[in-house]
Amino acid sequence: MKEFLEVISEEMKNAFEKAGYDRELGRVSVSNRPDLCEYQCNGAMAGAKKYKVAPIEIAKKVSEMLQGSEVFESAEAVMPGFLNLVLKPSFVSSYVSKMAGADKYGLDTPSDKKTVIVDYGGPNVAKALHVGHLRSAVIGEAVKRLFAFCGYNAIGDIHMGDWGLQMGLVITELKERKPDLPYFDESYTGEYPKEAPVTIAELGELYPTASSKSKEDPAYKEKAMEATLRLQSGDRGYRALWKSIMEISVGNMKGIYDSLDVHFELWKGESDVQDIIPEMIDYLKKNDYMHLSEGAWVIDVKKDTDTKEMPPCIVIKSDGASLYNTTDLATIMDREKKYAPVKMVYLTDKRQDLYFEQVFRAARKSGLVRDDVDLVHIGFGTVNGKDGHAFKTREGGVMRLEQLVSDINDMTYERIMESRQMSEDEAKSIANIVALAAIKYGDLSNQPAKDYIFDMDKFTSFEGDTGPYILYTIVRIKSILSRLQSDGFDVENAVVSGCYEPTQKSLMMQLSGFSAMIRSACEEIAPNRICTFIYETANTFNRFYHEVKIATEDDKAKKESYTGLLKLTKDILETCIAILGFAAPDKM
Ligand code: ARG
Repeated sequence: MKEFLEVISEEMKNAFEKAGYDRELGRVSVSNRPDLCEYQCNGAMAGAKKYKVAPIEIAKKVSEMLQGSEVFESAEAVMPGFLNLVLKPSFVSSYVSKMAGADKYGLDTPSDKKTVIVDYGGPNVAKALHVGHLRSAVIGEAVKRLFAFCGYNAIGDIHMGDWGLQMGLVITELKERKPDLPYFDESYTGEYPKEAPVTIAELGELYPTASSKSKEDPAYKEKAMEATLRLQSGDRGYRALWKSIMEISVGNMKGIYDSLDVHFELWKGESDVQDIIPEMIDYLKKNDYMHLSEGAWVIDVKKDTDTKEMPPCIVIKSDGASLYNTTDLATIMDREKKYAPVKMVYLTDKRQDLYFEQVFRAARKSGLVRDDVDLVHIGFGTVNGKDGHAFKTREGGVMRLEQLVSDINDMTYERIMESRQMSEDEAKSIANIVALAAIKYGDLSNQPAKDYIFDMDKFTSFEGDTGPYILYTIVRIKSILSRLQSDGFDVENAVVSGCYEPTQKSLMMQLSGFSAMIRSACEEIAPNRICTFIYETANTFNRFYHEVKIATEDDKAKKESYTGLLKLTKDILETCIAILGFAAPDKM
């Protein structure tokens, strides 16, 4: 279905053409003077130069051509040559009614599904998830769902950090504590225990201990590096231990991501490409894509046009070890082979901006990806506390993700109990739903690259630009609909038919922007646009709701059209929040 603004512009273009001017001048935009008109066209200003007449003359002539238009109620030519436009209510309602009946509310999607890989989450095995991992999970999930909605085959890959020094550190610390475990006995040939040698709580503590020991004690660090190498070169005991640690760690992560309603199609990690690294190295060497520099194998990625420093991409360190870059390059090669995606999108902290620039350039230069594959890094800002510094616990420690989710659940529960009457159990389950909206909306409503302040009071508020406010609006619509239903009104078959009230018209015009908004959110990979849209929709709806009495309306045609509009508003809001990764309860 054509986008709303396109249909309006088409009408205007025809008028320019009829008046004897270039039709391309007839582009319409949303009015920047909403007190005067709804839309505007500035084409006469541009045309004035071309046709050497006063802009107002062009505007007047075009305006005449629009007498009797099905689209414009008025198209007024005003000085110095603007066209101020007001739409016909019947045109607006007929567009909205078509939208309601169309697949995806009129969003056009391509007939062939192209693949997009979204690389997000990126947790490190054996390290606890902290608040920094929240953004990658939340934004990544929304981006993936947005691509899927827009007709792509969207594949989410968690890309765990499961192979580097951190694993060597954990193994080393465990060996110090439990040297008798069979994994460390080189002469052991039997089966390794099914039970993991550590609990998840111990694991959470092993890594920080090992990490600080290695910073103080070079011999300890040496041991950890040896352990890493031994793991990577396939030691039977170390591999078995690694597998066992992976199992409990991944199990724990799944629980946390599930609670955030974040789901990955692929649970791959750095370890998964180890087998193909030699093949990649061979290829890079054979084709002279990399060269030796101070003992390391590197790919030069500097361009003449660079204004910032652009160090080469190191593929193999001078000690022969592979590193983060190596696994990312091999992963690109692997994805290219297995999925042939049109796009790979990565979500990490923006401190990895330069890193991804190097890796992408290296991958392109060496032909690990086809030229037309889009490689995109979305670098996001930091989650700060109210003091403007990185978000911390009350005691000043790093905030664990589980803790954060549980705190915000508690706060939402209290808010619900304060103002509503329902059982504690019911309030608890509703609180979980509302809290998730609070967290996700609080994050997604910001531009990804910006830092934002994690303000629990604000995020959980039922008023203002918050997740709970959006949910509250949806719940309100649900309850009006169910009241109408129980009054015997045929809600099911109600459709948008006519437009009778100014606030109803505003709501319809707002909804009619859905497909253009989604398309541009996807093109720009900007889920924050969806937040802006639903906030404006909720506000526009609430104005309509306060001004127009729906339940007591006697005119059946009006009541039916209002009801149709309620349903569409609810459906579009719910579609949007589903893309953002949360849902609305039935009451709150
Ligand atoms: N594990 C990494 C980190 O904590 C993030 C991984 C991002 N994805 C990637 N393909 N490099 O920084």
